[in-house]
Amino acid sequence: MTERRRLIAGNWKMNGLLADGVRRAAALAARARDALADGERKLPDIAICPPATILGAVGKAIGGSPIALGAQDCHAEDKGARTGDIAAAMLAELSCRYVIVGHSERRAGHGETDAVVRAKAEAAHRAGLIAVVCVGESAGERKAGKHLDVIARQIEASLPPGVAAANTVVAYEPVWAIGTGLNATAADIAAAHRHLRLRLSAFSRDGADIRVLYGGSANARNAAEILAVPGVDGCLVGGASLDVDAFWAMVLAASS
Ligand code: PGA
Repeated sequence: MTERRRLIAGNWKMNGLLADGVRRAAALAARARDALADGERKLPDIAICPPATILGAVGKAIGGSPIALGAQDCHAEDKGARTGDIAAAMLAELSCRYVIVGHSERRAGHGETDAVVRAKAEAAHRAGLIAVVCVGESAGERKAGKHLDVIARQIEASLPPGVAAANTVVAYEPVWAIGTGLNATAADIAAAHRHLRLRLSAFSRDGADIRVLYGGSANARNAAEILAVPGVDGCLVGGASLDVDAFWAMVLAASS
């Protein structure tokens, strides 16, 4: 097992017109460059996932900085008659390194099944992107005590064969914690991550090395506590990633 580098990834969702997004990205890039020049801390991996419309401009704004670019979704096919969709290779061409697939907002709002998510992850891999595959139980599933079974099923059905630490990151995001201000407790997060790690190790030779992030109302105030939970390799951050100070505080909480 190699040491898993922490990753703090910001999911801007459907927020950010051009000027706003470029300003935020440039501010983050400046902080990252200063931190590197300072040399005092070792930064974690950092990614921002803006809306598709501003990927190119945000990519330029963070160019030459240690911040990587990510997209929020891709289509499962490489090209063709898919009006409005975006192929993984198109994202790679814009210098994306990551693409989120299977976010619960897409599973719920666009009817994406585990099979669709898996096909998207495969498309991401074909294009040389790192797929950030999201899993997480609903409030009802947790209440019914089925959460560990649900995330195990999602992991097994959403990950394509050939997943490896170099091409895949898993994000555990309990649906009831996303955008609600509710956090899973440290014990809940630890239990879910332990379970996911076991499933990953059964599923892939690289299972011990694949990073597993936590997402769901992670913010500057709770980041240190979440990152201290055994098995948590970073955070996928929604709301708090829109605030430069908050997101940067989370990056620093993950740095060593
Ligand atoms: P949140 O979103 O941090 O706003 O809860 C997390 C996510 O959806 O990835």
